[in-house]
Amino acid sequence: MQNFDFYNPTHIIFGKDRLASINENIPVNATVLITYGGGSAKRSGLIDKIKMALGNRKIYEFGGIEPNPKYETIVKAVEVVKNEQVDFLLAVGGGSVIDGTKFIAAASKFDGDSREILKGGYTPLPVEEVVPFGTVLTLPATGSEMNPTAVISYEHAKYFFSSPLLFPKFSVVDPTITFTLPQKQVANGVIDAFIHVTEQYLTFPVDGRVQDRMAEGILQTLIEIGGTSVSEPENYDARANHVWSATMALNGLIGCGVPQDWSTHFIGHELTAMFGIDHGQTLAIILPSLLVVRREQKRAKLLQYAERVWHIDTGSEEEKIDQAIQKTRGFFESLGVKTHLSEYGIGADKIPAIVEQLKAHGMTAISETGDLTLEISQKILESSM
Ligand code: NZQ
Ligand code: ZN
Repeated sequence: MQNFDFYNPTHIIFGKDRLASINENIPVNATVLITYGGGSAKRSGLIDKIKMALGNRKIYEFGGIEPNPKYETIVKAVEVVKNEQVDFLLAVGGGSVIDGTKFIAAASKFDGDSREILKGGYTPLPVEEVVPFGTVLTLPATGSEMNPTAVISYEHAKYFFSSPLLFPKFSVVDPTITFTLPQKQVANGVIDAFIHVTEQYLTFPVDGRVQDRMAEGILQTLIEIGGTSVSEPENYDARANHVWSATMALNGLIGCGVPQDWSTHFIGHELTAMFGIDHGQTLAIILPSLLVVRREQKRAKLLQYAERVWHIDTGSEEEKIDQAIQKTRGFFESLGVKTHLSEYGIGADKIPAIVEQLKAHGMTAISETGDLTLEISQKILESSM
């Protein structure tokens, strides 16, 4: 097992009817800015309930944060925070609203050009503190409710930044709030969580037994309840397990002390930036073909995955790996998500341009060992047609 630090201070408030606890977790005299997306949280009455929970605090609202949040949109909220002396942010939404709010929290304390924050990656934020924020999660997928990372779109690229200052103070994680989601978003959410786990698990063995078994537990849970979470939107138990799987998939715990390979995400981000394909869909396109192309590098873990997650215990090693990859693709398709790039109307003629974008964004030596070159990305894209 590799050395690691584990730090996660986010207070999770999980379960039914937990909105009232917002009141205990935001200072009584705070001026609060509620951030939200395109309107689902307004239409469902969620914003009104949250305002009730906030009582007499002074409240401002900033709506219109779009999926794959754009810098140009969220930077406008920084003005509101500065002009109205907002001292607490409350994000009500999925990954896009929460990520956008992380940017607002940092940029509101920064006097320079806030694009510096956007392009920061893992470099320390150029601020000593951020505006504290909490979240009310409406879409189980990204884990943003319990991690310190944000992904923001700017000029046809997706940038990420991450800082220990950007953990939410608290997150209300109430599965019933997600009941209004369209099926497509639920399916995207299952796949995003699944692939957050595989990016931290399908690498090479380092005898991280606890991490491996937690990862396998989350994958098996998602396989068990994914279909029900999509087809029975008000099945509380299925959705509760989906939600908690998604939070646990990317809160830092299963990634402690093990190699990580975020290649599926990096290639997928280009597909969103270029063609507007949903984040979860891009991952469903890339992962199966990445596993085909990278089977030698991932052989030991692919066999472990085949045996422990899919219970494939007959056949040769090659057959087990083939079956595990086929079952993975079949699982995504069973949720109604297409797994071939061509099925999204993108032809092979676009591959050189996608590879160009990877190059432009420095994605020339990715994977758990940094050996995944542009040529290999090209092969993965070709095999995803
Ligand atoms: O905007 P509204 O009207 O609210 O509608 C949203 C949006 O259209 C809708 N929705 C959300 N909750 C709903 C609902 N509709 C009905 N009922 C509800 N309860 O769902 C749509 C998609 O929302 P979005 O927030 O974009 O989805 P998701 O949570 O999948 O977030 C995707 C974003 O997160 C980033 C992605 O790159 C993408 O920008 N990621 C963030 C990560 C992180 N912070 O750690 C890691 C991830 O890998 C990912 O990259
Ligand atoms: Zn993701």
